[in-house]
Amino acid sequence: MNAIPDRRALQLPLERFDVSDPALYQDQSYFAYFERLRREDPVHWCAESRFGPYWSITKYKDIMAAEVNHQVFSSELGGIQVLDQPRDMQRPSFIRMDPPKHDEQRKVVQPIVAPGNLANMEPLIRERTRQVLDGLPRNEEFDWVERVSIELTTLMLATLFDFPIEERRKLTWWSDVAIADVTDPEAPVRSEEERFAELKQMAEAMGRLFEERKARAPGFDLLSMLAHGEATREMPLREFMGNLALLIVGGNDTTRNSMSGGLYALHQNPGEWDKLRAHPALIPNMVSEIIRWVTPVIHMRRTASRDFELGGKAIRAGDKVCMWYVSGNRDPEAIEEPDRFIIDRPRARQHLSFGFGVHRCVGNRLAELQLRILWEEILARFERIEVLAAPKRVYSNFIHGIRSMPVRIPG
Ligand code: HEM
Repeated sequence: MNAIPDRRALQLPLERFDVSDPALYQDQSYFAYFERLRREDPVHWCAESRFGPYWSITKYKDIMAAEVNHQVFSSELGGIQVLDQPRDMQRPSFIRMDPPKHDEQRKVVQPIVAPGNLANMEPLIRERTRQVLDGLPRNEEFDWVERVSIELTTLMLATLFDFPIEERRKLTWWSDVAIADVTDPEAPVRSEEERFAELKQMAEAMGRLFEERKARAPGFDLLSMLAHGEATREMPLREFMGNLALLIVGGNDTTRNSMSGGLYALHQNPGEWDKLRAHPALIPNMVSEIIRWVTPVIHMRRTASRDFELGGKAIRAGDKVCMWYVSGNRDPEAIEEPDRFIIDRPRARQHLSFGFGVHRCVGNRLAELQLRILWEEILARFERIEVLAAPKRVYSNFIHGIRSMPVRIPG
């Protein structure tokens, strides 16, 4: 790991700042870089990086300005990450589209997260959460990520797709493959070709289920919705692959890392644990604070469709523009005492972790529901959960991932 110590952020000339370095997120040394960028150069040009030149937007208000201006800041003209996918391996999906096509496809899957459907799903989510928590060992070290975060989010995903429950870990695998940085020695795939081959297998397996659902009356799962949706039922294979990967990653990694990161945040802030135990009604507010604190998606990228001035900087048509949510969520001009984890923070939901504008996370209410139920059920059974070591983090500048975190539940 090629980690740069924090103090370099104070000494390095701004023109040498490159916040796209995944090591900064693996070793959590990014904070000081963004603090300086927000103060001295909030819309920053990085002329040279492994991913080519790019702009960084680091302040809350500038990120919002880009989010709501999809005419200028396009999701379709380039990728959604600072990393460009090789052209012949691109997998279009609605997160990589601009309106109107984006809106038509998004509308197809939206009903799965409608309030009525979430209410219907709540008992099942609770039941599964209880089973997973009741199956945990006592007085014994185990990995929270593996036993709780991955298991719960994967069960959820299998439900959303009506995917065979006993094969659910395939979904976890495909999600990990879809987001891996192929240069990470621990990545599940080591080249774009390998990634493409794995995701093709995913599309084939899901394709069989898709055809089955198409032949049946419309059901209330994501595959059935895609199979019957007017804007999606005739999707070409690559677009099918892209939309599947989007829904699998969207619903998996992000919530998974909030489940792990939230427990770690409470461990680091024992006063907040006490507050939570004394006031369990704070759980919904705490869930929002966890999602801000963890910021599961590090950045999203747009591509400028025309010349545009932002924060006094001249962005040119075709430029890559990254919105760093990890920075906007720690901007003191928008969030009071942003470097403190406060479970009863006022207006906790005003964070950037779900993005904003036309691409604002489809699954935000579902993610909150899963996390709320998890914490309700944790409080109902465990007095304490001891975190035994700092989490091991993923080498990525896109997903703020926790690979493992050893814990013990006394009892
Ligand atoms: C989009 C974060 C959970 C499905 C997004 C975006 C972010 C995000 C940052 C892009 C927003 C933008 O570009 O403005 C998160 C976080 C989650 C989470 C932090 C959990 C804590 C979920 C879940 C689902 C999901 C559970 C699945 C049902 C999607 C989809 C999109 C999306 C389909 C694309 C929306 C579009 O382009 O219109 N999410 N997400 N996400 N998310 Fe989530």
